[in-house]
Amino acid sequence: MRAGHDLILILDFGSQTTQLIARRVREQGVYCEIWPCTHAPPAAGALPALRGLILSGGPSSVDDAEAPPFDPAWLALGVPVLGICYGMQLLAHLLGGRVHRAPHREFGPASVEVIDHEGIFADVAPTTRVWMSHGDQVEALPPGWRTTARTATCPVAAMSDPGGSFQGIQFHPEVTHTVEGVALLRSFVFGACGARGDWTMGSFIDEQVAKVRAQVGEKHVICAMSGGVDSAVTAALLHRALGPQLHCVFVDNGVLRAGEAEAVAAEFSELDLTVVDAAALFLDKLAGVTDPERKRKVIGQTFIEVFEEQAALLREKHGSIDFLAQGTLYPDVIESVSFRGPSATIKSHHNVGGLPDRMRMALIEPLRELFKDEVRALGAALGLSAARVHRQPFPGPGLAVRVLGEVRAERVAVLQRADAIVAEEIRRAGLERGLWQSFAVLLPVRSVGVMGDARTYEETCALRAVHSTDGMTAQVAQLPWELLERVSSRIINEVRGINRVVYDISNKPPATIEWE
Ligand code: XMP
Repeated sequence: MRAGHDLILILDFGSQTTQLIARRVREQGVYCEIWPCTHAPPAAGALPALRGLILSGGPSSVDDAEAPPFDPAWLALGVPVLGICYGMQLLAHLLGGRVHRAPHREFGPASVEVIDHEGIFADVAPTTRVWMSHGDQVEALPPGWRTTARTATCPVAAMSDPGGSFQGIQFHPEVTHTVEGVALLRSFVFGACGARGDWTMGSFIDEQVAKVRAQVGEKHVICAMSGGVDSAVTAALLHRALGPQLHCVFVDNGVLRAGEAEAVAAEFSELDLTVVDAAALFLDKLAGVTDPERKRKVIGQTFIEVFEEQAALLREKHGSIDFLAQGTLYPDVIESVSFRGPSATIKSHHNVGGLPDRMRMALIEPLRELFKDEVRALGAALGLSAARVHRQPFPGPGLAVRVLGEVRAERVAVLQRADAIVAEEIRRAGLERGLWQSFAVLLPVRSVGVMGDARTYEETCALRAVHSTDGMTAQVAQLPWELLERVSSRIINEVRGINRVVYDISNKPPATIEWE
């Protein structure tokens, strides 16, 4: 909870787009949090900064036996409420209206006619495109309420109570397909709720620096840096607060991108940064391992061993190290308190997983209230390079999960060369930021080729480039054909060990982004 900032609470009923609602609100400079809809309402006066509530969409029907439980006392807090989709139906259901199964499920774009321009439609055109995704709809309004917008198939596309303090919209203002969605959310948070828009990265840095200083005092903090955005921003922020009391450790596990260790050492030269060359150890432990999960486990465990060794050295030097810094982000925090429970493990992810339990140190997680785009903005405000804050995600187990089959030093080197070519060409084409990820994978599949007059019998490189918003789903990117050909030709000509390049055109699901 951010003391001192106006707060909008979003109660999550299980919609796929709840996080988007929060991001849209934050983009307006208004602090908000997502709480599970099953959370008990706060006692009177317990949340003095609360300015409004948003009830999210969700997959249930309001009178389903398995509809998530919700305490109606939430509606008696005296703050404005906006119900979106399921949230609107719930308002109708709880306040004396009626919800029924619509004759047709409505999914996709719709044209909404605004009937009442007071309240949240104040800045919205008389007809506007919105995004619908619902099977149920409001059939009868709660007593005294009025319809504020309709579509050809949805007679109550939006509704309001007499005072305009409770409002509902059947469509989704948080998705970009709803053309005036941001205007609607702005009307709600600034107009109805009177929020101030006091959430800026500058204020976040000042508050966080003061908080970390108070928490850490004269003690020391250790931070595992991976070169990724989250750990880089965590380190930069903590360095701003603590200076020499922060000690960063970067482990070169031998399966990093070409030049990564050197680049991190150069960019973070102001920090007390130990770059540990543990490549030989990691590759030794990976010898003979071909199973993807086994590779992940070996790398995770070896990382912990190396990191603990470094922590012991730092402890000797500084007396004691009391805190471990982690780049946990808000989506991880929400996931762990979701009322939907944990989802199935497809791949065991490794970042600094396992460390906190083993090391018995207090955790410092200065990013745990931020979304990824806010972390990038924070990184920029802290002076990190644009290349660093906008870099694509890179998996914790590194190239080990992109070298299919056995991870030997020479195969890693082959992939590093191919990967560097992909990165360079994507950057040159100006596509790097527009893609979630673009990379090369080395397949243990040898085929016959011909170079000059000689026969070759070498391995295959798969190219992967995808669009995604959160890594949970992904669409294959339609890279320009000329670019693909150029990359292919460069890899085959410049990288010994690869004589064939293929393009992976699978979406996630059913494939995953990484190959292992
Ligand atoms: P998959 O392959 O599961 O990947 O579709 C989804 C996203 O997660 C990244 N990824 C990881 N990130 N530690 C990470 O921090 C990991 O162990 C890990 N494995 C996969 C992957 O690059 C993609 O962006």
